[in-house]
Formats: sequence, C-alpha cells, structure tokens
Amino acid sequence: MLERQSMVEAALNAVLPASGHAPGGLHSAMRYAALGGGKRIRPLLAYAAAELVNADMSRVDAVACAVELVHAYSLVHDDMPCMDDDNLRRGKPTVHVAYDEATALLVGDSLQSLAFQVLSETVLCDDAAQQLRIVKMLAVASGSLGMAGGQAIDLDSVGKNLSLPELEFMHVHKTGALIRASVQIGAMCGERIDEADQDSLDRFAKLAGLGFQVIDDLLDAESSTATLGKTAGKDAIDNKPTYVSVLGIDRSRDLAQELCDNSMRALDRLPAGGARLRDIADFIFHRKF
Ligand code: IPE
Ligand code: IPE
Ligand code: MG
Ligand code: MG
Ligand code: MG
Repeated sequence: MLERQSMVEAALNAVLPASGHAPGGLHSAMRYAALGGGKRIRPLLAYAAAELVNADMSRVDAVACAVELVHAYSLVHDDMPCMDDDNLRRGKPTVHVAYDEATALLVGDSLQSLAFQVLSETVLCDDAAQQLRIVKMLAVASGSLGMAGGQAIDLDSVGKNLSLPELEFMHVHKTGALIRASVQIGAMCGERIDEADQDSLDRFAKLAGLGFQVIDDLLDAESSTATLGKTAGKDAIDNKPTYVSVLGIDRSRDLAQELCDNSMRALDRLPAGGARLRDIADFIFHRKF
C-alpha cells in the first residue's frame, strides 16, 4: 500500500502544473490541495482492481490520478463556507483559508478538469470504445447522479430526520459512487472478466463505498481533531443526519461490521480471493482516521 501511495503521489506531482507556471497562485493551490496528504483509498482500490485483471500498471497511474483528483476537488468544495465550512483538512488549513474562496472554487473546477484530461490523454486500454466507457463512468460517478448529487442531498438534509433508506441513498451517492467507480474503472483496464466476477467485484465496491461513509460518520463522532486531521464532532455541530445521529454509535458499529463481512464475502470467488482488495477493505473498516 505504501508503494502504491507513493506511485500515485509521483503521478499526481507529474500531472499537476508547476507552481511557477502561470497562473501561479491557482497552480500552487491545486498542488496544496492534492499533494502530500490523504489516505489515497480510491487510487489504492483502482490499482488493486486493475491488478486483478492483469492490467499494465503504468497505464493505471492515470486512473489512480483521475479518481484522486476528483476526490481532492470534492474535498476542497466540501470544506468551503457555502458547504461544510471547515478550516482543517488533512492536518492543514483548508484551501479557502490558506488561499481564498474564489481560489478554492477554481481549484475544485481545475482539479476536476485535470482528472478528465488525464483520463482521456493516456491510453488506458487497447480498445478505444472501452476507454470512452471509462471516461463516462467517472463522469457519471462524479456528477449529479453520483457524488455531486449526494452532496446536494447532504446540504438539503441539514436539520432533517432522514429515514434509514434516505440516509443510505445520500451516502451511496456522496461517497459510495466514486469509490465504486474507482474499482470498476481499475477493472476495466485489463483483461475482460466474466460477468459473475464483475458482479462480485461491483458488490464488493458498493458495500465498501457505503461502509466508508459509515466509518467516516463514526470517526467524526468518536475521534479527535488531531487524529483525523479535520475538525472532529463537526457533523453534530452542523446538525447533519449521519449514521451516528440516526442509529447511534453501537448500531452504526454493528452495521459497519456487517458491511465489512459482506464486502469480504463478495471477494471470495475472485482470483486469489481478491487479496489486495481484502487488505484495503480491512483498512477502510478498521481505520482510525
Ligand atoms: C473524506 O474522504 C471524505 C469522504 C468522502 C468521507 P477520505 O477519508 O478518503 O479523505 P482523505 O483523502 O484520506 O483525506
Ligand atoms: C464528504 O462527506 C463527502 C464528499 C463528497 C467530499 P463529509 O462532509 O462527511 O466529509 P468530511 O468528513 O468533511 O471529510
Ligand atoms: Mg460534507
Ligand atoms: Mg465535510
Ligand atoms: Mg464526514
């Protein structure tokens, strides 16, 4: 995992324009947002899924970059005053605090555009039609039918009592969609796998994606700002419906365990039991930050 984290760090460093490149302020803020922090879970999932289908790993760097760039953009916007209004991210001041709001807005825009630039300028697979499907998959996962849509529901839900299905719908979109796409896209870069294996992989990705946000909600309630590198307890302060506010700590932990078990079970039929994906899931469900 450490090796893969440094692979994506190097690839991001290479695709992000230098701070000295005009407009220097924007490029410096983009690098501030995307480099030197974060768990890199989405790239790790993309690499692991790609490995399962014997993909050419040098091509997969572009996929790893693209999913992380979309994620980094979503964090920059998520932290802005018009959304969660947070001043700490990955242990540093958020982009709109370190720079300014207009820069943060443009950093998000530019990171998102860069993601699609990288995905479209690199040969990801030998079949051009398959490459187009990959680009579309990231677009759908990022937009109003995916992450951005989930964020809209999140903002609209402040102070409301969501039912469990409504909460799941929000989480599956705001966080699950990009995680699911990271696995799917990784698996589209190599040899074709049969439909049953594809279904198993997708079931794994959906469960891990939902579980990721259940754990994020739990950590917000139970951990500290120092450990998280972002403000702890913020969901309660902001009156956000979360798994913790709807189910309580204990039942949220039980649900996370159930999602963890089911996601692992989905990997059973994959080659070598999807060992690398299993390790990442273990990290997703048992992480401390
Ligand atoms: C935080 O994501 C936002 C959510 C989607 C829950 P991560 O926990 O993956 O954040 P980094 O990338 O490690 O900072
Ligand atoms: C954010 O969810 C999901 C995104 C799409 C960025 P949160 O608002 O819970 O993420 P954190 O806790 O600020 O990282
Ligand atoms: Mg948010
Ligand atoms: Mg937030
Ligand atoms: Mg959170």
